[in-house]
Amino acid sequence: MTADLFPVPDEWATQARIDAAGYDRLYAAAKDGPDAFWLEQAKRLDWIEAPQKAGDWSFDEADFHIEWFADGTLNAAANCLDRHLIERGDQVAIIWEPDVPTEEPRRFTYRELHAEVCRFANVLKANGATKGDRVTIYMPMIPEAAFAVLACARIGAVHSVVFGGFSADALAGRVQDCDSRIVVTADEGRRGGKRVALKACVDEAAAQAPSLERVIVVRATGGDVAMGERDVWYHEAAAQVSTDCPPEPMNAEDPLFILYTSGSTGKPKGVLHSTGGYLLWASLTHEWCFDYRPGDVWWCAADIGWVTGHTYILYGPLANGATTLMYEGLPNWPDASRIWQVVDRHRVTGLFTAPTALRALMKEGDAPVTATDRSSLRILGSVGEPINPEAWRWYHEVVGEGRCPIIDTWWQTETGGALIAPLPGATALKPGSATRPLPGIFPQLMDEKGEVLEGATSGNLCITGSWPGQMRTVWGDHDRFFQTYFTTYPGKYFTGDGCRRDEDDYYWITGRVDDVINVSGHRMGTAEVESALVLHAKVAEAAVVGMPHEVKGQGIYAYVTLNGGVAASEELAAELKHWVRREIGPIATPDAIQFAPALPKTRSGKIMRRILRKIAEGDTGALGDTSTLADPAVVDDLVANRVG
Ligand code: WTA
Repeated sequence: MTADLFPVPDEWATQARIDAAGYDRLYAAAKDGPDAFWLEQAKRLDWIEAPQKAGDWSFDEADFHIEWFADGTLNAAANCLDRHLIERGDQVAIIWEPDVPTEEPRRFTYRELHAEVCRFANVLKANGATKGDRVTIYMPMIPEAAFAVLACARIGAVHSVVFGGFSADALAGRVQDCDSRIVVTADEGRRGGKRVALKACVDEAAAQAPSLERVIVVRATGGDVAMGERDVWYHEAAAQVSTDCPPEPMNAEDPLFILYTSGSTGKPKGVLHSTGGYLLWASLTHEWCFDYRPGDVWWCAADIGWVTGHTYILYGPLANGATTLMYEGLPNWPDASRIWQVVDRHRVTGLFTAPTALRALMKEGDAPVTATDRSSLRILGSVGEPINPEAWRWYHEVVGEGRCPIIDTWWQTETGGALIAPLPGATALKPGSATRPLPGIFPQLMDEKGEVLEGATSGNLCITGSWPGQMRTVWGDHDRFFQTYFTTYPGKYFTGDGCRRDEDDYYWITGRVDDVINVSGHRMGTAEVESALVLHAKVAEAAVVGMPHEVKGQGIYAYVTLNGGVAASEELAAELKHWVRREIGPIATPDAIQFAPALPKTRSGKIMRRILRKIAEGDTGALGDTSTLADPAVVDDLVANRVG
C-alpha cells in the first residue's frame, strides 16, 4: 500500500498556508466550537453589517431550516471587486484566453472589471431588473458572461446561468421554472473553431417561455442575428449608462443564484445558494484546497454554466483577489497541446480540470505535453467525477513532473464548493481518493438499512451537519429539497454518492447510487433522457442507464421499445440520438441505443434497472435473481442484442 501513498513534499509542508497540524487544529476547532470558528472565518469577507450569528440549522422534518450568518449584510460583487480596489486595483483580475490561439487574450484589472460590472448592472437596471428578480444568463465563455453574473450580484438580482450547450427546450424550461423576465445572451458562441447560435436558441426558447420580456444580446462574434422587439444590443444599452452603480446591501441569507442540476427524478432542480454562506465557502475552499497566494495565476478550466465555474472561476478567486483565467475554447483544440500552451502563455500556477479531459489528452500520448514548458505550475486540481489512478498518475508525473500535488475535490452543485479534498501542505495523497473532509465537514457512511457504518467500509455518503456553502432550497419547491436530500437518512444530508472509507480514514467516491449518471463530469438524470426519447412519435418506452466509457467516465445507454409496426433500424437509432441532442443538448446524446421488444419489469410493472445496468456494462454473466420478473425471457433477448 505504501507505494500508493504520496507524502506531502517537504517544501509544501513548510511553506503551504496550512500544514498537517494546521489542518488538525482547524478540524478540531470547527467541531468543538463551531460558532466561534465560523464567525472567525466569516471575517475574511467584507460585511456591511458583520454577523453575530453563525450557523442555525436543523435537518429534522419538524424544524427543518438552514441559515448561516443570518444577521449579516453584505454584497457579493462588492466582495469580489470594490474591496480590492485600493490594494490591487491595477492587478489583473480576469485574463481571457480566446478560442482561436492566434487572437490576443484580453485582460481586465480589478479597476476595469469593477467598471464593466457596474456598467452591466446599470444596463440590467435600465431594463427593469431589481433586487430578487431572476436573470437567466445563457452565454459563451466570454468576459461579458462574468460581467453579467457579477452585475446581478451587485444589484441583488438572482442569476441563473444556463450552460450554453443546452438546447432551446432546456433553456425554456429553466427560464420558465424561475420566471425569468430577462435573458442575457450573445449573438453566437465559439468553441473549438465552431460557432454556436445562442441568440437563435433564445428566440426559439422565447416561444415557449411567456415570462421572457427582454433579451440583452452581447455582440461576441458579429454573426448575423435577427433582433426583434424584445431584444436589446448590450453595446448600445451600455453606451447610455454610467459606470457608477452602488452595490445593493443583501442579507447573508438572500439568494445569490440558482443553478439547475439533474436529479434522479423529474425535471432538473433549481439549486439555490445564499449570498453570505456560499461566498464564504467559495473563498475559503479556494484558499484552503489550492493554497492560494497573491501572485498566483489561477485557471479553472470549467464553463461558468456549471457550479465549478461559479465557485472556482468567479466567486472564490475574485473574493480572494486572485488573477483568474477564463478560457473560451476546448482543451484539445486546435491540437492536444492547447491546454499546456495556455498554461505557458499566461504562466498559470494552478490548473483545475476534470478527469474526462485528462483521459482524452492522455490518449494523445505524452509528446503534446512534454513539448511545452509548464514550469509555472505548482498545483493541479481535479473535479467532477472519480479520477482513475491511471489518469491521476499521468497528471502527476507527466503534466506536473512530480512537482505538483493533485487536489482531487469531491463536491456537488448542492454543496457550493469542495467538501472532501486534500490540502496540499497537509494531506498525503492517494491516487483516486479525494482523501479527507475539509474542516467543518462531518461525513458518515450508511448502509441500506439506515445504520451508520464505522471504520474501513463502503456505504452511502451522508454529511451529518450543515456548512456555510450548503444549498438552501430547490427554487419554488422547498418540500422537494427536503424530500430529495433529507428523508433517505433522516437528520442527515444524503449526497446520492457511494463511497469507500479505507483504514487511514481516506474517502474514495465510487459514483452515484441513484439514477443520475456522470457523463464527462456532467450530471445527467436518466429520467430526463427517457422523457426526451418518449417524446419521439415512434418510441413507446425507454429506459436509460450508464455504461462504462473510456474517456467520458460514463456513457449513456438507452433501451428503446418502439411503437407497434415501427421497424428498428440503424437510421432510426441515429435519428433518436439526434432527437435527444436537440431536446436537451449535445451532452445528453446517447452513446448506444438498443431496440428492445420489451423491458424487464417486475410483476408490479417496475423496470428492473439493475439488470439493464449489468447488460449495458457487458456484465451479463451475473444478472442476479431474475425470478421476480414478469417475463424472464425478455432478458435473454436483451443480452443477445446488446449493442457495443
Ligand atoms: C461527482 C460537480 C468523485 C459525484 C462539482 C457528485 C465526484 C457529482 C467528484 C456532482 C470527485 C464530483 N470524485 N466524484 N472529485 N466531484 N463528483 O453537481 O458523483 O455537477 O455527486 O458538481 O459529481 O456533480 P455536480
